[in-house]
Amino acid sequence: MIISLIAAVDEHGGIGRNGRMPWRLSDDLKHFRALTLGHHVLMGRKTYATVAGKLPGRKLLVLSHNPAFRADDALVLPTFEAALAEAQAAGEDELFVIGGAEVFARALPLAQRFYLTRVKTIAGCDVFFPEFDIHQWKLLSEQDFAAGDKNDHDFSILKLEKQVA
Ligand SMILES: NC(=O)c1ccc[n+]([C@@H]2O[C@H](COP(=O)([O-])OP(=O)(O)OC[C@H]3O[C@@H](n4cnc5c(N)ncnc54)[C@H](OP(=O)(O)O)[C@@H]3O)[C@@H](O)[C@H]2O)c1
Repeated sequence: MIISLIAAVDEHGGIGRNGRMPWRLSDDLKHFRALTLGHHVLMGRKTYATVAGKLPGRKLLVLSHNPAFRADDALVLPTFEAALAEAQAAGEDELFVIGGAEVFARALPLAQRFYLTRVKTIAGCDVFFPEFDIHQWKLLSEQDFAAGDKNDHDFSILKLEKQVA
């Protein structure tokens, strides 16, 4: 099973503000949907709060240390390892880690693919993607999108593959 990261990051590494994404990028959401449909997606409890009920057609795995936490459309798991085991046991071929910061940090060393949306703005975020070395990643493709009716900002979607050391 491949582990893939999928994140939208501003020019300062920001990913969220006040518990949500601080931009509307309709073409990026389309890309997110096309990639993740039919797959397991793994997220932290706070990210789940922003997507609950909005990701049909995917198997949602949510991390929480709170054994009492329940989610209507997701399976709640107590550890990252338990989530990997769940996806693996279900026969998943590509698990998408969709955030937030703590979950990205945990998954980074294991991830083989990284779908990175670079948003051309500084959005005053209060949550940031963890530090990572871009040189460890090989660029497979890059697609540019322009700001307009559907997208708040210019952005690029990079498909990256971890370089084998
Ligand atoms: N731009 C993007 O691509 C993107 C993607 C995702 C999210 N976001 C944004 O990021 C923000 C949310 O991210 P966040 O970093 O604050 O929170 P988060 O990672 O979504 O959730 C954190 C919570 O997840 C649980 N958790 C995380 N790692 C765990 C582990 N290893 N084992 C067990 N539980 C674990 C804990 O829940 P408990 O407290 O219940 O134990 C923790 O408090 C929002 O603003 C959201 O909009 C942006």
